[in-house]
Amino acid sequence: MIHPSQSSVIIRPARNVTGSLRLPGDKSISHRYAMLAGIAEGTTRLENYSTGMDCSSTLGCLRGLGVEWHRGVDGVVEICGRGPMLKAPTEVLDCGNSGSTMRMLTGILAGQEFTSELLGDESLSRRPMARIMEPLSSMGARISAAVGDRPPLRISGGHLRAIDYPMPVASAQVKSSILFAGLFAEGKTRVKEPIRTRDHGELALKAFGAEVKIAGRAACLAGRQRLHGINATVPGDISSAAFFLCAAALFPDSQLTISELLMNPTRAGLLDVLAQMGLRISVTQMEERHGELVGTVEAVGGKLRGATVTGADTAALIDELPVLAAIAPYTSQGIEIRDARELRVKESDRIAVVAKNLRALGADVEEREDGMRIPGGQSLHGAEVDSQGDHRMAMAFSVAALRAQGETRILNAGAADVSYPGFYRVFEQLLER
Ligand code: S3P
Repeated sequence: MIHPSQSSVIIRPARNVTGSLRLPGDKSISHRYAMLAGIAEGTTRLENYSTGMDCSSTLGCLRGLGVEWHRGVDGVVEICGRGPMLKAPTEVLDCGNSGSTMRMLTGILAGQEFTSELLGDESLSRRPMARIMEPLSSMGARISAAVGDRPPLRISGGHLRAIDYPMPVASAQVKSSILFAGLFAEGKTRVKEPIRTRDHGELALKAFGAEVKIAGRAACLAGRQRLHGINATVPGDISSAAFFLCAAALFPDSQLTISELLMNPTRAGLLDVLAQMGLRISVTQMEERHGELVGTVEAVGGKLRGATVTGADTAALIDELPVLAAIAPYTSQGIEIRDARELRVKESDRIAVVAKNLRALGADVEEREDGMRIPGGQSLHGAEVDSQGDHRMAMAFSVAALRAQGETRILNAGAADVSYPGFYRVFEQLLER
């Protein structure tokens, strides 16, 4: 029996995954909608806003900046936009565990004529911020950080000039941060990414009424555009769906339906890989909402082959790589992940933690600087594994535990709340034993 409030949970092996569900709103989209709503004119009404702690951190910071909002019992968040100029905060803004909050909000704060400070928890305090400090400083903001360009950040904004910025790192958070700053700049801001990353920032800006030009891997917007509030329903989080889809992939008789799920092609790479591995996936009821594709996904289990994920493909499933790696030992040919060095600077060093936890379950893993190779056809045994406070690790190893012999204890399991409170309850309901 699982007690979600406890900091560790026990997962027992399962025989099958079946059921239908709809998921809380996508985390990446929820952050962006909330931030743009704060600087828009008029009220924004968001149904199915992410229930994760990260998106609450964004709302908390917005309140500190004078943005009023209300969250109803039905989960609907109403945000009263202040227009482009926010209020100088009287306290340090707490981003919690959320790199998205810190990096993207800094783009908006760079355009504000006051000084603000952002801090994060222990994990966020280890994450690199030079990637946003450099471009935003060249736009005219003054940003200082702790040693090694780590949080906390102190931002003195105002009077920005546009830049044409070739991004050295493929990061959607950085891209959105610069585009958000571009709204406050004189002239046209252009960012070009080395490989295509999620485009929720561009689509959200358009949804709130900004004109954004996209040409290949470049996005360009003119400064001083006014935004207006929207009514939107946030599509289900595909990164949360990943845990259920990978769990379903472990059993030939699984049958899982997830409705109103985000289907944006810059995020749906996991579906292609799982389909290639043998999970039978069909998508119906596709529609577009504020530029974002949404659909109902049906997954039926099959025999699980292996896969290789490399190059530009890694971006479209970067957050799903840990759970893909977690099911790799159970595939027939194993999984190889390359060109995914960014995994080392996420909420934890996701290459090291995946390797350590898989080994604790008895798996053979070859850890590499930019990824890993996990042979297939392995039998695992239950053990104690640690999420290291990383939400995706807690959930990924709950999935790996389903086909291990015996029980697995996940330490620091409560980390799942960062993106998906209620995960363990829903997970248990879908399992047949
Ligand atoms: C995100 C982008 C990715 C991802 C993160 C959310 C976003 O990070 O890992 O969970 O919403 O833009 P990077 O931009 O650092 O790659």
